[in-house]
Amino acid sequence: MNASMTIRHAQVVLPHGVVECDVAVADGKIQAIGTNVSQIGEEIDAAGLTLLPGIIDPQVHFRDPGVTHKEDLHTGSCAAAAGGVTSFLDMPNNKPSIVTAELMAEKKKDAAQKCVVNYGFFIGATSYNLTELNQVKNVCGIKIFMGSSTGDLLVSDEKDLENIFANGSRLIAVHAESEAVMQENNALFSEIHDVAMHPRIRDEAAALQATELAVKLSLKYNRRLHILHLTTEEEVQLLRRLPQDNKISVEVCPQHFMLTAPECYQTLGTLAQMNPPLRTARHGKALWKGLKEGIIDCIATDHAPHTLQEKDQPYGKAPSGMPGVETSLPLMLNRVNQGECTLQEVVKWMCEAPARLYGMKGKGNIEVGMDADLVLVDMNQKKTVSNGQLFTKVNWSPYHGIELQGWPIRTIVNGQTVFWEGKIIENIRGQEIEFVN
Ligand code: DOR
Repeated sequence: MNASMTIRHAQVVLPHGVVECDVAVADGKIQAIGTNVSQIGEEIDAAGLTLLPGIIDPQVHFRDPGVTHKEDLHTGSCAAAAGGVTSFLDMPNNKPSIVTAELMAEKKKDAAQKCVVNYGFFIGATSYNLTELNQVKNVCGIKIFMGSSTGDLLVSDEKDLENIFANGSRLIAVHAESEAVMQENNALFSEIHDVAMHPRIRDEAAALQATELAVKLSLKYNRRLHILHLTTEEEVQLLRRLPQDNKISVEVCPQHFMLTAPECYQTLGTLAQMNPPLRTARHGKALWKGLKEGIIDCIATDHAPHTLQEKDQPYGKAPSGMPGVETSLPLMLNRVNQGECTLQEVVKWMCEAPARLYGMKGKGNIEVGMDADLVLVDMNQKKTVSNGQLFTKVNWSPYHGIELQGWPIRTIVNGQTVFWEGKIIENIRGQEIEFVN
């Protein structure tokens, strides 16, 4: 199905500024931008609304294949669409973990059947799949878990890491927590079963040491490195001191600068448990500053759903992770309304940067010829995030009960409306993202 439409009178966030204009869309692409552009297809009067490029979430866990009672590629992509997210990059810690070209091909085939937005996938690194990592076609990158988290992927030995960094040129994205440091801490605190201990076990030193090692290997081998979900002030300081000509990019999750310890563990218990952990306000402030100053390039959610029942277990048994793909844009629009950042910064962090860093063809900006991935938002709409009213299969959010101002109201993927009037148009399908790096 090829829809066409002309969106009139929106405040459009263009690469050079926010301008009131019209945007015409056909054949999945942006055809014209300007005042009084010729009508194509359906006319949408968007006066009073704001048009952004579709949000790109460069880190989600949609649990498919294998753990689909928590989420699947269809429900995860519906949650994305409801949150204004038109493209996502999904992690390989599935069951089985996606560590071969064959498993990747199956996952892509399944995604084509299920996803209502555009999709791209990471291949998971092990200590024995180097050939697969380098030969698999069209993936966004190699994911390395340097410390263990959900699933069985782990490459913690420096020699194994060096082997991956030294051989090949594809982007490496790291979950940077030192397995050795966490094991030492675990032994120290093994008697204490309190979720407030989570950031003591997975502490600042664990994050810093792993990030230092990844940075060292990237600089040594001139290898493209993306540091996922940064969490500490110490890491921001380290990244501030990098040599100019590095190939390193950095990401942060909203929860790491919006939810702070110890309060989050008191109010949310194990719902606040994720890896790397939520930390104190000093880290949150440093992360926000790092983002504003360009030390951190982009925002991802690390959407990692677990059911309320699974989360309702004591610390030690409860799994780590929280949903987020549906709430990241409203959280950031709320920040715009509070005067903390601008719409253009939001577009830089959530659209342009992920598209550029991962080399996503046709994505990230509203420009003629780009893919028609768009989100219309109402900057005045106020709504309270509510468990039970979300599209993610687990249907809870760490932001339950919080009112936010600024919500997506219409999400357009490749020129087709996928989310509108609070509902998903279920028969639309997204496309595989093409990576040109
Ligand atoms: O908290 C987390 N949950 N961190 C990860 O690295 C993985 C994720 C998951 O898949 O549950």
